[in-house]
Amino acid sequence: MKKYHIITYGCQMNEHDSENIAGLLEANDYVCSESSDDADIVVMNTCSVRENADKRFFGVLGQFKKRKQNNRDFILCVCGCMPQQPHIVEKIKKQFSWVDIVFGTQNIGMFPDLIKKRLETGEKQFAIVSNNPEIDEITIKPKRLYKHKALVNIIYGCNNFCTYCVVPYTRGREKSRSLENIVSEITCLAENGVLEVMLLGQNVDSYKDLAGYDFADLLQEVNKISGIKRIRFMTSHPKDISDKMIDCFASCNKLCKTIHLPIQSGSDTILKRMNRHYDVEKYLNIIDKLRKTVPDITISTDIIVGFPGETEEDFQKTLDIVKKVRYDSAFTFIYSPRTGTPASKFENMISEQTAHERFNRLVSLINKISLEKNQRYIDKEYGVMVEGISKNDKNRYTGRTDDFKLVNFTSDLSLDEIEGTIVPVLITGAKTFSLEGRTL
Ligand code: SAH
Ligand code: SF4
Ligand code: F3S
Repeated sequence: MKKYHIITYGCQMNEHDSENIAGLLEANDYVCSESSDDADIVVMNTCSVRENADKRFFGVLGQFKKRKQNNRDFILCVCGCMPQQPHIVEKIKKQFSWVDIVFGTQNIGMFPDLIKKRLETGEKQFAIVSNNPEIDEITIKPKRLYKHKALVNIIYGCNNFCTYCVVPYTRGREKSRSLENIVSEITCLAENGVLEVMLLGQNVDSYKDLAGYDFADLLQEVNKISGIKRIRFMTSHPKDISDKMIDCFASCNKLCKTIHLPIQSGSDTILKRMNRHYDVEKYLNIIDKLRKTVPDITISTDIIVGFPGETEEDFQKTLDIVKKVRYDSAFTFIYSPRTGTPASKFENMISEQTAHERFNRLVSLINKISLEKNQRYIDKEYGVMVEGISKNDKNRYTGRTDDFKLVNFTSDLSLDEIEGTIVPVLITGAKTFSLEGRTL
């Protein structure tokens, strides 16, 4: 039996693509190896969202040169978002000649054929397309990473072209899967023991299938699937989120009380130059509506600091919105210019030093608020869906509350008894990024 190993970078889209790639390899008699050292085939599923993702990838790619020199039969593959950019493919061809197969985000179904051709002809294989019209019809059986929760794509691609972002260039135009296909996939997952689904899209709020169903309609239908206990989704876009969708938090009992709603910046001038199509007032209105519908909803966000032309005043406005919304958590990024995006040609780039200094101020404010929010959970009881043993402490289990808080807790129950169930946990302590507790 030949062995494969997949290295995954980037977001949950890539994580799910890797599940599909693993599914394809296993259907072709490959077995999974925990390490790349003894694998016959290594797949690097890449991300291109920021420069350090690029750098890390090329660093690791370089390390495989010796491996290839010592073993001509070893196969190295690159897929994901990086090869969707022509300049990256050129670079791979010129500087990384030991790469055997390169395929794009919309060619995953072709992978077994590419391996076959590589083995038969000895030639390198490159297959990259954009906007594959058949992407919804792909019927790959993924090898799921988790037993009880599953990632489910509902919409591919992105049409928004935020001026800093490479994703519309690497994932192509938006294409919603049909509601029928999504519901049948989730029904099948539920029949196989999945309790929680995460509906995925770069902008789930622009979901619309050919029959005219929108995201709120989809949530209503998924809510009806028996066996599913929790429904999550990401990412929401403030420009497209509708009242009809917000109402689903009241009408769909399985919808988790949490939302990831990226703000990116608290300055209207910057939001405009980012091409985000909303202002702070509109964003705060959405937050108000959400909190009126679900008073204890948890809210997380993404924020970029050091966008070209960001003044200290603009940055203060970002701090202001963080104080107003009081996020449960936030992913913070220093702006990173991406080849081919409009913002990479904007004037007034912010110095690294200023960006770092702002970044640190922002992170300490966010962490302070996260901790304060988490402390409010102490001495209360929550249902926690158990995901397994805690990574950092073998004596504790780990899981998530309905509102997405990470909980590490002790229990007298065995892993077999507890894994994949929702158990009541008393919260006894709070940290910035997690809660602590014990089962009752
Ligand atoms: N579709 C999602 C986000 C996808 S990328 C959305 O619209 O929210 C995840 C996050 O990476 C973005 O929200 C943004 O905060 C960050 N990001 C994207 N491009 C970036 C860049 N060039 N520099 C820094 N951060 C970036
Ligand atoms: Fe990138 Fe904007 Fe699309 Fe999100 S909505 S993936 S940030 S272009
Ligand atoms: Fe995701 Fe990175 Fe691509 S964030 S969509 S893997 S560029």
